[in-house]
Amino acid sequence: MRFFLVFLLAFSFSFGAKVVKVDQRYQESVKCKVCHHRIVDEWSDSWHAKSHYKNDEYFQKSIEYVSRKHRKSLNSVKVECATCHNPRISVTNTTLDYELAAVMGLTEGSKVDKAVSDDSLGEGINCVVCHNIDKIHDEYDATKRGIHRVEWTKSGTMTGPYTDAKSPYHKTIHHDFMDKNPNKLCFVCHANDRSVRGLVFTNMEEEYVGEQKCVECHMGPQKKDVAATYSFNGKAKIRTVRNHGFMGAHFDSMLNGALELSSEKKGRSLIITISNPQPHNVPSGFGGRELLLEMVYKNKSGEVIDTKTLSLTTTYERKKGREGIPHMAKKASKDMSIPAKGSKSFKVEKVAGAAMVEITLSYRLVNDEIRELLELKEPIWSKKYFVAKLRQKL
Ligand code: HEC
Ligand code: HEC
Ligand code: HEC
Ligand code: HEC
Ligand code: HEC
Repeated sequence: MRFFLVFLLAFSFSFGAKVVKVDQRYQESVKCKVCHHRIVDEWSDSWHAKSHYKNDEYFQKSIEYVSRKHRKSLNSVKVECATCHNPRISVTNTTLDYELAAVMGLTEGSKVDKAVSDDSLGEGINCVVCHNIDKIHDEYDATKRGIHRVEWTKSGTMTGPYTDAKSPYHKTIHHDFMDKNPNKLCFVCHANDRSVRGLVFTNMEEEYVGEQKCVECHMGPQKKDVAATYSFNGKAKIRTVRNHGFMGAHFDSMLNGALELSSEKKGRSLIITISNPQPHNVPSGFGGRELLLEMVYKNKSGEVIDTKTLSLTTTYERKKGREGIPHMAKKASKDMSIPAKGSKSFKVEKVAGAAMVEITLSYRLVNDEIRELLELKEPIWSKKYFVAKLRQKL
């Protein structure tokens, strides 16, 4: 009985999002490439472009894990995650009938199965996600995100930052969330990410300090260039543009220098301080990320005499005493991230005979516990991204 109640609650929660079918002329980025070549290339290397499960091992294995442990069909979980990861999906919720049919293997050819396997979703968060948003309902309940927080433009109308853009291929419309207030656009999905049990494991909107625009760091500084290579009279307008790379925690260049390290001797101990100049926590955005503080102690002749490692991460409990992933979490351990525009200090004991210590701070996308639980194979999940380094005489 409880099993069914949980289903009913989960399903009634997701009703209401209105689907607008995207015409084939606009569905995929290749259609934009003739005229927006630079932008399509930049976006293709971003993790927005990889946000479909077939392009992200971590996402794929998380879906499978949730389906197994939550006893819900794989496709129902895919539909739920599509809310933010693939918001142009044509079905936005599944019913109890679908669940029962799935148990008996009778869903082939159903609307849900067709929607989930639609090829055009393979591009994840592509052009017609951000540029077809017509309205963002910030007055809605904070739990309504992605597809449940927006209204779409008519297929073929592109929302953009300019008030005077004209294109022979599509209509254009200007909205404030494309230039004056773009954080509103980012927070459609980058906020209030929660587990199936309602635990909010990340909320970038709540932790955000100040008014700085996300695009200043994640789409780079404004530059002068053409927005489209096509023009009516042979000369394309020079505009202010940004980079569509949306670089974040999967890129060395973003992590290098993202945090600052300092240290201070205090009696028999060493106080190490990590400061975060960024307007959001680091790590942030997704649960189970990790910072590693590695200390290498050397004696007067430069020989290594000891090493220590401190892992700063959050772990998740699925059931009492059972480990889990963020999406199945009932409870989270203490938040170990470095707060936005803030700092945290850690005390470590000195090592006898050590003349100096080398401290290296690095970042990992997935902590040991979750990586093992999901059996993640690709090297990026265990790769140490360099953040900062410091030498301290003892
Ligand atoms: C995650 C949301 C997002 C996605 C995905 C996205 N864009 Fe944008 N796009 C923006 C924002 C925000 C701006 C405004 C940037 C600025 O100038 O401040 C923008 C600006 C533009 C502009 C105006 C020129 C410029 O660079 O400012 C064009 C043209 C454009 N995008 C086309 C595309 C195309 C084509 C794709 C798919 C390959 C795409 N966008 C994917 C958010 C997005
Ligand atoms: C045949 C050429 C062509 C194709 C194909 C094309 N566009 Fe455009 N697009 C333009 C032109 C021209 C402009 C106006 C540029 C300017 O005014 O500087 C434009 C402007 C835009 C803008 C900015 C609108 C604004 O009001 O700020 C966006 C966003 C955009 N295009 C997205 C797309 C997307 C997404 C696709 C693919 C589905 C696409 N375009 C396909 C030619 C094209
Ligand atoms: C429709 C939902 C949605 C919107 C709108 C959106 N994002 Fe994202 N974003 C995602 C998802 C989902 C991912 C994770 C993709 C993955 O890793 O598979 C992501 C990932 C990212 C990352 C991490 C990339 C990395 O390399 O680690 C950055 C940075 C980012 N988005 C910035 C932005 C900014 C800036 C905006 C606003 C202009 C924005 N996003 C708008 C859903 C969205
Ligand atoms: C001052 C520059 C700056 C601004 C502004 C900024 N970020 Fe970031 N962001 C960073 C840096 C540096 C990183 C890499 C460190 C990290 O992973 O936290 C990052 C990482 C991220 C990540 C990946 C986090 C992770 O660890 O998985 C996401 C998602 C993201 N930012 C989204 C946003 C959004 C959304 C906004 C606006 C609400 C924003 N950022 C504003 C600098 C910035
Ligand atoms: C509220 C919107 C939202 C929903 C719903 C959502 N996600 Fe995400 N997810 C995000 C955003 C935003 C990011 C990017 C955060 C970052 O990179 O730090 C992300 C990142 C991830 C990542 C990390 C990917 C990487 O490459 O590091 C995984 C795994 C993930 N989501 C799994 C899921 C699963 C499984 C579901 C469904 C059960 C789901 N998500 C539903 C917004 C959402």
